[in-house]
Amino acid sequence: MTASELPRNVAVIGTGVIGNGWIARALAAGCRVTAFDPDATAPERTRAFVERAWPALERLGLAENADPAALTFVESLEAAVEGAELIQENVPERLALKHDVLRQLDALAAPGVVIGSSTSGIKPSDLQSACTREPGRVIVAHPFNPVYLLPLVELVGGEHTAPKVIERAQAQYAALGMRPLVVRREIEGHVADRLMEALWREALHLVNDGVATTEEIDAAVVYGCGLRWSLMGTFLTFHLAGGDGGMRHMLHQFGPALKLPWTKLEAPELTDELIDKVADGCEHQAAGRSVAELETRRDAFLTELLALTRKYWPEAEGLQGRI
Ligand SMILES: NC(=O)c1ccc[n+]([C@@H]2O[C@H](COP(=O)([O-])OP(=O)(O)OC[C@H]3O[C@@H](n4cnc5c(N)ncnc54)[C@H](O)[C@@H]3O)[C@@H](O)[C@H]2O)c1
Repeated sequence: MTASELPRNVAVIGTGVIGNGWIARALAAGCRVTAFDPDATAPERTRAFVERAWPALERLGLAENADPAALTFVESLEAAVEGAELIQENVPERLALKHDVLRQLDALAAPGVVIGSSTSGIKPSDLQSACTREPGRVIVAHPFNPVYLLPLVELVGGEHTAPKVIERAQAQYAALGMRPLVVRREIEGHVADRLMEALWREALHLVNDGVATTEEIDAAVVYGCGLRWSLMGTFLTFHLAGGDGGMRHMLHQFGPALKLPWTKLEAPELTDELIDKVADGCEHQAAGRSVAELETRRDAFLTELLALTRKYWPEAEGLQGRI
């Protein structure tokens, strides 16, 4: 971490699942955080969230000055962005709402301050179209849940974004212990959500067609491809699948299967029946455990998995940081 790039004051706008994840990550890195959310229960929810996340962050290693109390909730966007060196927007995924909030943030923030949107699917140029002051500083900074543990953040600039904005953002998110992935061209869903969505659609088809239950599909991921993906990703994993001949041999052998109708990719209709099957399947898998209980278990697992990834892939970019 380069101390000089660390945003000392971070503004977090919208404190649901993702906003709270950003708050926990920034506090653990030693930042002061100012948060805004119109929901009156937000401060209480956030403090409980940070308390639950803190043990996992401690295991990964906190910054010397990390303090869960360095969090202030304020009553307006104006108060939230005052003195902020990085602003992270996490309001619900509705374009009109994002426009309203981002337009105000752009009008209020100090010049040059990056405004990252956590949007899962909206293109940055579509976000920027509502802003009039410095639209180029409004970029996509898409994280993964739980934001306080998973290092990836996809950075995507829009048509008004100068390269220096992305460079600044890269340095700031890296200083927060993340692995920024600069996406070269803006597309809906960026890179990682496109990949996850493809798997998700196929999984829904398999449930809808009665081929497998949610539990069986999760087993296929957890005990198979998922374990490999956590170290090497799709391409390097397939390179090894080709034996000594690597990817070339693998493509030669399995290339023809790409032409077979293995995948549908078009999403199935979300009928009430499919929703019931999927939701009931997940309840069955949870076996009475609450989401909070499952999150604690997931966090313990992820912290050890991150340490393992670091151990076996020490040269991998972005995994050397503390969090
Ligand atoms: N949930 C995920 O797994 C995930 C992952 C990556 C990115 N994202 C993206 O993060 C963003 C937030 O998603 P989430 O899952 O945290 O949603 P969420 O519903 O959990 O939280 C949204 C929060 O925004 C607040 N809010 C509503 N209007 C607001 C306003 N005008 N100003 C400030 N706050 C306001 C709500 O009170 C709520 O606390 C979305 O753009 C989503 O696409 C979500």
